[in-house]
Amino acid sequence: MADRVCLVTGGNSGIGFELCRGMAAAGFHVVMVSRGTERGQPALEKLQAEFGDSVEMMLCDMSDLDNIQKLHAEYTAKFDRLDVLFNNAGAMWGKRKLTAQGNEMTFGVNHLGYFEMTRTFLPLIKTTEGSRIINTASVAHRMAHLRLDNLNHENKWYSQWRTYGNSKLCNILFTRELARRLEGTSIITHCFHPGVVRTRFGSGASGLVWLFWPIFRVLMINAKRGAKTGLHLALSEDAGSSTGQFWSSMKRRKGNRHARNDDNATILWEKSEEMVNVRN
Ligand SMILES: NC(=O)c1ccc[n+]([C@@H]2O[C@H](COP(=O)([O-])OP(=O)(O)OC[C@H]3O[C@@H](n4cnc5c(N)ncnc54)[C@H](OP(=O)(O)O)[C@@H]3O)[C@@H](O)[C@H]2O)c1
Repeated sequence: MADRVCLVTGGNSGIGFELCRGMAAAGFHVVMVSRGTERGQPALEKLQAEFGDSVEMMLCDMSDLDNIQKLHAEYTAKFDRLDVLFNNAGAMWGKRKLTAQGNEMTFGVNHLGYFEMTRTFLPLIKTTEGSRIINTASVAHRMAHLRLDNLNHENKWYSQWRTYGNSKLCNILFTRELARRLEGTSIITHCFHPGVVRTRFGSGASGLVWLFWPIFRVLMINAKRGAKTGLHLALSEDAGSSTGQFWSSMKRRKGNRHARNDDNATILWEKSEEMVNVRN
């Protein structure tokens, strides 16, 4: 059995890949979660060339929440602890699509994926001393116009940026509410904006994003820098001295007023619970 275990969703690419590297370098056994072997295997080979068997891969497509139960079964058959969970897998979709459970894809993967991962692994996280849950959010939450009565963006004109921004606001609200619900435990949870990072992010986007992306890319930071704040949240005493906060560039940030709305955080939690329960 490994001493300390870390699980990273979206671990095969971009920020997630560097989170895997950073955690392996810090001495953790790392479970890199990828949605498929085609993109997962080359990433795994790179990480294993550096860290050997202390990195392994498990598969899970977060657009089908039932896969999370399968991932959990595979994980718990092997490990009896989870020290750090990084909810990181996410994307922006150019066109409105649906998940296996019929939720809008951006909301489904970027928020419900984090929600269901956390809910499913929480019993194990609770029995692991000093555990942390770190969520990759974004300053894109400033573009949000979140309608809690229409989380699936039904019967609306679809804006990829607005929908993405909404999902990232959900990440911050989710982190706040999670921290509130974990009061009295030693579990720390935070979320962070990684910076504007040169990754594969945006490859599923449409329209002008594609046109201007090559120009933007020159100005972006690399993924190693993008992972820095996330690693700080997982590893530092500083981050362990508080919980439920939004960070960027290694510092606690306020987020905008929508990101500090605790009533909405509670409503989002309850609605998310209803949505993931529908399939049970
Ligand atoms: N890049 C930025 O500037 C930036 C800024 C703020 C926040 N973020 C956030 O950072 C996180 C990581 O993004 P990134 O920039 O590193 O982009 P990336 O290189 O595209 O990585 C995204 C990861 O998420 C995975 N993923 C996407 N859909 C998935 C699904 N349905 N099931 C399982 N995994 C899925 C991808 O898998 P595949 O490799 O198979 O596609 C990939 O591993 C996201 O949450 C994003 O919102 C990024």
